[in-house]
Amino acid sequence: MTTLSDSFAAARERSDDLAAEVAAQPGRFRVLTGERPTGRLHLGHYFGTIRERVRLQGLGVDLWVILADYQVITDRDTLGRVRENVVNAVLDYAAAGIDTSRATVFTHSAVPALHQLMLPFLSLVTEAELHRNPTVKTELAASGRALSGLMLTYPVHQAADILFCKGDLVPVGKDQLPHLELTRVIARRFNERFGQVFPEPRALLTSTPEIPGLDGRKMSKSYGNAISLSMTADETAALIRRAPTDADRRITFDPDARPGVSALLTTAALCLGSDEVTLADKLGDGGGSALKKLATDAVNDFFAAHRARREELAADPDFAIGLVREGNRRAGEIAERTLDEVRAAMGTVY
Ligand code: TRP
Repeated sequence: MTTLSDSFAAARERSDDLAAEVAAQPGRFRVLTGERPTGRLHLGHYFGTIRERVRLQGLGVDLWVILADYQVITDRDTLGRVRENVVNAVLDYAAAGIDTSRATVFTHSAVPALHQLMLPFLSLVTEAELHRNPTVKTELAASGRALSGLMLTYPVHQAADILFCKGDLVPVGKDQLPHLELTRVIARRFNERFGQVFPEPRALLTSTPEIPGLDGRKMSKSYGNAISLSMTADETAALIRRAPTDADRRITFDPDARPGVSALLTTAALCLGSDEVTLADKLGDGGGSALKKLATDAVNDFFAAHRARREELAADPDFAIGLVREGNRRAGEIAERTLDEVRAAMGTVY
């Protein structure tokens, strides 16, 4: 039986090979990527994933973006303001340069045939494999809750998210690698057991390291340390003003000893296309206020066009939801086609 364990170095190497293939023949790839609509998108999303999606689309790949709304309830009780979060995500995608006339943006809860793949897929994995998934373990511990059936099986659900449209390239961060490995195992086992239907999708590792929140912890809406893409320049300035720094006027990059100062340097460096040490040297003995001014101006300049475009798009109340409806229609169509192939392979055509 194939095991799910896989070294990160090997994944990195395969990802580099894949990047070369994509650059050579972008038209051969269907990219499936996405996230849970749990809140406003922030700088971490932009530099971690959105920018990469725009780049891939610019190369000419077929881009599919899933808003995994069912997945929101893996570790929380309610979906919260899920519709609002979906609308806001679409506005940020479009403002960031995702070409919404070509890309398919959809919510998986609206695609019934996608979920029907879950049943045969569940038959292809063992309970032990599901319990072994390190990302699920971490999320379970962080949730402080009992393990629900959905939490245990959501990586199988994610395999359906990817395979329903035969996505063959999935840009991922390190935490999503176990899910992608499981998706590959499921595709392989399905093809072996029932007949060839699915590609084995490959992981394209995103190269941007995790971007810290303003206090140096993981950037997260719930910590209040995230700069949302949808904030105004004034809101951004106010948030950065409140960010913790320290009394040492000499600015240095030292994420362990000086998390707040270092996070501001990283934020500014990303927006300015510079690096933290260069910026720290330039600031010298300028202290926290000069650093905060630099970071505020860097973020506000970098996102000025994004925010203006976002505001324009938001003025049309039908734009975002219209786009999702069209995406859901396209996703539904392709999901039905795939499900027909699955039925044929399984001998359940009536
Ligand atoms: N699990 C992903 C996250 O938490 C979201 C997601 C759901 C996803 N389905 C997907 C990502 C399919 C890539 C492909 O961010």
